[in-house]
Amino acid sequence: MKEGQAKAIERLDYAPPAFWIDSVDLTFDLDPAKTRVLNKMQVRRNSAAAPQALRLLGQELNLARVLVNGAGTSFKIEGDELVLENLPEGDAPFALEIFTTCAPAKNTQLSGLYVSQGTFFTQCEAEGFRRITYFLDRPDVMASYQVLLRASKADYPVLLSNGNLVESGELDDGRHFARWQDPHKKPSYLFALVAGKLVAREQQITSRAGNKHLLQVWVRPGDLGKTEHAMNSLMASIAWDEARFGLTLDLERFMIVATSDFNMGAMENKGLNIFNTKYVLASEATATDTDFANIESVVGHEYFHNWTGNRVTCRDWFQLSLKEGLTVFRDQEFSQDMAGSPSARAVKRIEDVRVLRTAQFPEDAGPMAHPVRPDSYVEINNFYTVTIYEKGAEVVRMQHRLVGREGFARGMKLYFERHDGQAVTCDDFAQAIADANPASPLALHLEQFKRWYSQAGTPHVKAVGQYDADAGRYTLTLSQSCAATPGQPNKLPFVIPVALGLLDAQGKALPLQLDGEATAGSTERTVVLTEESLTLGFVNVTSQPVPSLLRGFSAPVVLDHDYSDTELLTLLAHDGDAFNRWEAGQRLMLRIAINAIADSTITEGANGQIDQNLLPDALVQAMRAVLRHPQLDAAFKELVLTLPSESYIAEQLTQVDPQRVHAVREALRLQLALSLQADWAWAWDEHQASGAYRPDATSSGRRALAGLALAMLCLAARATGDEVWPGKTYQRFKIAANMTDRFNALSALVMSGHELAQPALARFHALFKDDALVLDKWFALQAGSTDRGGNVLPAVKALLKHPDFHIKNPNRARSVIFSYCSANPGAFHRRDAAGYVFWAERVLELDALNPQVAARLARALDRWSKLAEPYRTAAREAIARVAAKADLSNDVREVVTRALAD
Ligand code: TRP
Ligand code: ZN
Repeated sequence: MKEGQAKAIERLDYAPPAFWIDSVDLTFDLDPAKTRVLNKMQVRRNSAAAPQALRLLGQELNLARVLVNGAGTSFKIEGDELVLENLPEGDAPFALEIFTTCAPAKNTQLSGLYVSQGTFFTQCEAEGFRRITYFLDRPDVMASYQVLLRASKADYPVLLSNGNLVESGELDDGRHFARWQDPHKKPSYLFALVAGKLVAREQQITSRAGNKHLLQVWVRPGDLGKTEHAMNSLMASIAWDEARFGLTLDLERFMIVATSDFNMGAMENKGLNIFNTKYVLASEATATDTDFANIESVVGHEYFHNWTGNRVTCRDWFQLSLKEGLTVFRDQEFSQDMAGSPSARAVKRIEDVRVLRTAQFPEDAGPMAHPVRPDSYVEINNFYTVTIYEKGAEVVRMQHRLVGREGFARGMKLYFERHDGQAVTCDDFAQAIADANPASPLALHLEQFKRWYSQAGTPHVKAVGQYDADAGRYTLTLSQSCAATPGQPNKLPFVIPVALGLLDAQGKALPLQLDGEATAGSTERTVVLTEESLTLGFVNVTSQPVPSLLRGFSAPVVLDHDYSDTELLTLLAHDGDAFNRWEAGQRLMLRIAINAIADSTITEGANGQIDQNLLPDALVQAMRAVLRHPQLDAAFKELVLTLPSESYIAEQLTQVDPQRVHAVREALRLQLALSLQADWAWAWDEHQASGAYRPDATSSGRRALAGLALAMLCLAARATGDEVWPGKTYQRFKIAANMTDRFNALSALVMSGHELAQPALARFHALFKDDALVLDKWFALQAGSTDRGGNVLPAVKALLKHPDFHIKNPNRARSVIFSYCSANPGAFHRRDAAGYVFWAERVLELDALNPQVAARLARALDRWSKLAEPYRTAAREAIARVAAKADLSNDVREVVTRALAD
């Protein structure tokens, strides 16, 4: 597959290209076994670069012909490069024509041109275009594209590419053609084509500016009925970007196409977004509320790339977060604005922070830690990470906070004025935001702020408060530190915005007045920590305050503060900041979990269970108060009453025994289930839906809380021997009017290990055997089951032999293998190491088919060095076994090499 050992690419080695490609004229004769690609380019030397050979990149191509200005020329092939040395002198453009063939039907990597269920698709980001034709396949080379597609009309009636359809018609032998022209220059990673039997939902819209556009969502014929939500989401995205940022759709036609074989979520190809079906298709019978929300957010994300990514793109792949961090920030804001009410916005914020802390914080503390703008990579596909996306979005969010909402909109405007049509860097973005807000703290500390782009690792902010009752003075000292990460032993101080407020003991917000200020201002402010430490003196504080720190999670840091339980209970009951209110509950439960894990007097029985109450009464009462609260939203209650995940708990420990973490968390869950039984029953009754299904924030929050209640009631039933709730749950499963309720009921039965789980699973499979996305849920639920501790692996192995399991399909592989290895720590980390053996086998099996997907799975053991024995040694051995394989892809090799170096 790949020859030799690839070496790392260094950010500081960046040099502009030696040649520019101004235009590309591509002709495709599409055939699954052998597709012919004629590539006619206008090329010219970059006069700013030293004279040198033209080195075009190509992978797995059969080269048939190279012509320069219509005549044959000498060339060499060196590895992946086609080297042309005898080119015309001077800066004048010349014509370069290259004819190659490739084999889309054999392309299991899903990068380049491939076939999925008889339809052709492309995926070119990051480096897939070179698998279609020889090219300067790098994002700073932007060209005008014209594309001619030719194929059998019966087999491929629909022929799509970027931009506008300029011509189409019949050819001989039952073939037809379509010619597309993209009015905008673009880098090669945004090229796309689709050809096959597809149908479209269409929508004509008129923008605020009065322009008409045609929107299309293309799917397989049977799926048209599931495209309404995606189309609505697209229309909402277009309206939102115009309203919030003044950014309009710059194309006459905007297309979304769905494929069931896709390595990631979706791709922002100019005017022709290609999506994983998971993020397009939805009906109330087949998709959950979470699916509906994800579709809205991913459709938004890809649409927003049209400006942040496509109109202004990345100079090189080290700048990936320039488009991804910014676009995630934009899709998060879009979802919040769509959710509407302040509490629904807070729920979305909590969900986003939860992703950051359970996935990105571990990444930032592990062997794959890298800055938001990395300095080095072996395989760029390994750097589409939660750090680039989610932490990158937090870095943009901090800029937003430091310049304010209006200031940020001004900054975006300046960014596009300066850089439209260019390939730029993260520095260019931050500079534009700062320059548009010269008096802001961002502009004041810009160089230091940019350490968020260059330094990896999660900073800790320690807060120490001291109250002087006589002087009415509260002193708060904030200090920061950041642990070493691979290649970065010492960190310099970050610019950390800390939003904060003070509450009195009764939970009332106190007006804030700092030393030297004449009067008290509002009850919340953002202080900016730039030094290692900062001391704030609050005056006229009449009683011992409870500090509410890092409100709204104003920076991606760990906040350490020695809260008493009483203080946390006060915050949980009263904080005006919904995020911190949730956070107080999480801190209380996390504290209990960590103490119990360390407490050797708390022991597990023969069944691995802890039969002991661990939560103090006051905390149970507080949780009951939240659950029964007359004003709080159901969605918020569901978040508060959900315990921190096993992986988040594990991250807080220096040494992790995954079985112990699992046992303690399960004990906490069981106690919440048993001690709040009557309250859960109340919550279930109280949150039944009435009326037609709608996936809006309020109704989905109600279903989420009802679903949690059902899960808790089934869990309690297992302990008490009650048969009423499992029976009710099975009944609900059978008659549910939507997938959210149905799946929550199924999950409650499976996770509580009730015998009704088996008939329910069988019934579910029979009902949905023809719907791939629903079958994915069916597989994932079983592989992710927290019940049956040691028995999940045999079940997973049996699932791999199921006739509906196909390892070449990434969604299906993820639903079984990843759900077990990455999302089910209690079942995966076995004392007999069988989980690790399974993991190593699957990594190798996948690597031969699809290195991108294999490398994601390889990361499941990133945190091996934190494991306690016997897990640690066994995990390391499994990684070493993978690393010892001779012809690994660069993708997997980079991951396991870094892991072993930890
Ligand atoms: N740019 C895409 C996004 O975030 C990500 C993506 C889609 C991708 N497919 C890919 C990245 C394949 C690498 C490889 O919206
Ligand atoms: Zn993106």
